[in-house]
Amino acid sequence: MMRLVLPLVALTSLLLGGCPPPDEGPFGEDFLWGTASAAWQVEGDYDPDPDDAFDVRSNWTVWTERGCVTDGQTNDVGSGFYERYDDDFALASGIGSNAYRLTIDWTRVEPEDDNWNDAEIAHYVDVLEAARAEGLEPMITLWHWVVPTWVQNPTEQDGFDALVMDPGPDSFFVAEFEEFVRYVAPSIAPYADLYSILNEPFSVISGGYLNGECGGGAFPPGRPLPDLDQAKAVTLNLLFAHGYACAALRELDDVDVDGDDVGALCGQAMSTPLMRPLIAGDADDIAGAEQLDWVVNRATVAALVDGNVDIDLDRAFTTTMSDDPDLPIDEGFYPQLAGTLDWLGINYYGPMRVDGLPGSSIGGLPILDVADYNPSLPHSTLGFAIEAEGFGELLDSFAVYGLPIYITENGLGDDNDDDRAMYLVEHLDELAGAAERGADVRGYFHWSLTDNFEWAHGFDQRFGLFRVDFDDPALPRIRQDSVDAYEEVIGTGGVTDASRERWVRERYASDTRP
Ligand code: FCB
Repeated sequence: MMRLVLPLVALTSLLLGGCPPPDEGPFGEDFLWGTASAAWQVEGDYDPDPDDAFDVRSNWTVWTERGCVTDGQTNDVGSGFYERYDDDFALASGIGSNAYRLTIDWTRVEPEDDNWNDAEIAHYVDVLEAARAEGLEPMITLWHWVVPTWVQNPTEQDGFDALVMDPGPDSFFVAEFEEFVRYVAPSIAPYADLYSILNEPFSVISGGYLNGECGGGAFPPGRPLPDLDQAKAVTLNLLFAHGYACAALRELDDVDVDGDDVGALCGQAMSTPLMRPLIAGDADDIAGAEQLDWVVNRATVAALVDGNVDIDLDRAFTTTMSDDPDLPIDEGFYPQLAGTLDWLGINYYGPMRVDGLPGSSIGGLPILDVADYNPSLPHSTLGFAIEAEGFGELLDSFAVYGLPIYITENGLGDDNDDDRAMYLVEHLDELAGAAERGADVRGYFHWSLTDNFEWAHGFDQRFGLFRVDFDDPALPRIRQDSVDAYEEVIGTGGVTDASRERWVRERYASDTRP
């Protein structure tokens, strides 16, 4: 797959009229420099009004109570954002950023089916107003993995799970998610145009249905795994959830906030690792990397751009699994999905290495082994390989779609902020390179402004530009040196030689190679 990329990029840049004139720099004047967050990671289970009739318990609350997060951690208030969003927005605008990605949390708004908590909508409106008052353009996520317990309740292995039920356009999950989006859209429309409707469906598919049951990085619902049928069911439900939510937003949000005559721009923050073969030149590994690149990085785009759904993941849109009586819906073209991506959201943390295992398969799919950790590269505290060049390569491979691109997440788990500044500068340098080669890059959202609850790993993983002292009940924010690096790049509108000299060292502190 990657071998096809460069010629296509060159072609795209020719069609787009080549590189921007040199005096404009790689990023346009309206470029969004932001930071990204997710509601439950920064708000936790904080209940603003414990005496009201509404509960804030979600699938992730239950998951933490089951002890499925490292050391049995629970998430009472996240980083305290629910109460101190004003202070955090002041920090964000203080470093010169002009955008902020956040979630409107379904659980808070509709804690029980059809029982709406309008006080929470009013709260989110306050948050959005506060963001704009600080000069931050909000990007809104509507599903960042957390759902009310009436949608998914992972109390036990066979707990209720609408995500896998009746997969397809007519499922309960799709209808209920659309209803939530329709309910909130009119209130939030005046504040934002950019919707990263769903965040990383693939992480939930793999973390919840393919890779582990409880603990060790697993996500809810914690079923006996792997379950490929359920993984496919979730995939389909999330595709249609995106499509129908996009239609609802386009219908209900006609408030043009950013002056381009459009009220709602549908996007998705996708998990997009660069897939490399474990051994360069090994035919099975190359085939495995190409297959996984399709499954993780391309199949969603094919569905949401062209409307073509590849259920058996064979890179064609007519099924070859004629022996599978359980295919939930027909493979092929779905008009309700076509054209529902106005822009692409790239979440890039690093490359993955794919070990293609010849001859074995589950349900017609080859078995692949994927390693995040690569002993020949430096790595984050979560074990992700660090490789900025991979970012540039990945962006080239997404530029071929000709759609605007936002980096919806990029960041580093780094306990002591040893490597974050260099990581930032190197990745922004690659971003600039991709823009110069023709990628239509419109914004960069660093993950994250502050430390927060890192899902299955809890508070142990620190991604914040501002460190949070979780031992102090006041949850003070402590500015890290890497903030200087981001502030500098934002200030100059790109990476300069001076920034490179200041921040890029010979090697990362985490680089343990000899
Ligand atoms: C991404 C998630 C985000 C955060 C980062 C570190 O996969 O979307 O919420 O946890 O990883």
